[in-house]
Parts: sequence; structure tokens; C-alpha cells
Amino acid sequence: MDVTQAISGRRSVREYTEEPVDASVIGNLIDAAIHAPSAVNAQPWAFTVVRDQKALRRVSDGAKAHMLATMGGNPHADHFRSHLRDLNFHIFYHAPALVLISGAAQGPWIVEDCALAGENLMLAAYAAGLGSCWIGFAQAYLNTADGKADLGLPAEWDPVAPIIIGHPKSAVTPVPRKSPEIRWVG
Ligand SMILES: Cc1cc2nc3c(=O)[nH]c(=O)nc-3n(C[C@H](O)[C@H](O)[C@H](O)COP(=O)(O)O)c2cc1C
Repeated sequence: MDVTQAISGRRSVREYTEEPVDASVIGNLIDAAIHAPSAVNAQPWAFTVVRDQKALRRVSDGAKAHMLATMGGNPHADHFRSHLRDLNFHIFYHAPALVLISGAAQGPWIVEDCALAGENLMLAAYAAGLGSCWIGFAQAYLNTADGKADLGLPAEWDPVAPIIIGHPKSAVTPVPRKSPEIRWVG
């Protein structure tokens, strides 16, 4: 698939079939992720692949409780609260797999590096016929001691990009883009 087709065709997918994603396919996605650029070529990322549905449920429950307890200042708090209180709301949408990209080294550009790896991974997933979605709801909780313990993450890792992967149940309607504000200097 041409890269521009992947960029414009990728969508956040929130409904998946139960079909598992092969370990070898996930390995290919991680290979695409590590081809991202990184500041001073530090390649500070580390990957955690979670296919254990009990672990995903544990993180979903923990993340919902953590967000409800801490999101006071979030401008979207009212909108989120009803979802987070809904016992049936699973933040990972019952996806068969989560790939969590964490910073495993210290440095000023860890978040940028891991986010670029995440975009590569999502584009590669789309090109492979898979769906993906970055789950920001998981981020704050996964950075707590309890969240790290849920997935057995080393204490010194900084989780950045929790990305679910799976076979989409159906095609997703594109989300419209705003016109970009562009200032030309020269
Ligand atoms: C940093 C980040 C956090 C996100 N967090 C969530 C999330 O917690 N739950 C969710 O359903 N989608 C989440 N998304 C997906 C966005 O809602 C989605 O990218 C946006 O609506 C545009 O749709 P598209 O990805 O199909 O182009 C997140 C995306 C990013 C980049």
C-alpha cells in the first residue's frame, strides 16, 4: 500500500471481531514502529504486547477509577464521566491485543520518539488490514505503580502509547478534518 493511502485511510477502530492477531503480525508492526526517527537516534522505546483479556480488563477497570478520581481539571471531564462510570464501558473495546510503547530510557524527547513509533505502528496495522486505536484513557493509570504492576512493567519505564490492534468488525466512517491554519513566512 502506498504511504499516502495508508495515511489517509487509517481510522481509529473501536469495534473488533474476536479473531486473534498472530504474534508474527504483531512482530511486523513492531518492526515498522522501530523504523521511526528518534532524537539522537536513542531508540528509547520498549514494547509490551498484552493479549491476556483478564489483564486488559484489570487495566480498563483501574484506568476508569483512576481517571474518575483525578480528572477534575480536564476540560472534557463532563463528557468522559458518564462513560467512565458505565460498568459496560471497556476502554480497550475488547480488542484482542494491546501494544504499549513505553520510554525505557531517560531523555527530553522520549514522548515524541514513542509517539512517532506509535504512528508507524498504526499505519502498518492499517496496511496489514488491521484496525488500531490509541487509548489515551489508559495513559495516566499505566504511569502509576498499580498500573505498571497490572502489566508487570519495570518501574523505570514511562508508558506513552497504548495502542489496541485487531480485526475491524466493519469499515469506519472518516472523521472530518478542520482546515489547517497555515502561515507562510517567505
Ligand atoms: C493521544 C491520543 C489519545 C486518544 N485516546 C483515545 C481514547 O482513549 N479512546 C478512544 O476511543 N480514542 C482515542 N483516541 C483516538 C482519537 O479519538 C481519534 O484519533 C480521532 O477521533 C480522529 O479519528 P481517526 O483516528 O479515525 O482519524 C486517541 C488518539 C490520540 C492521538
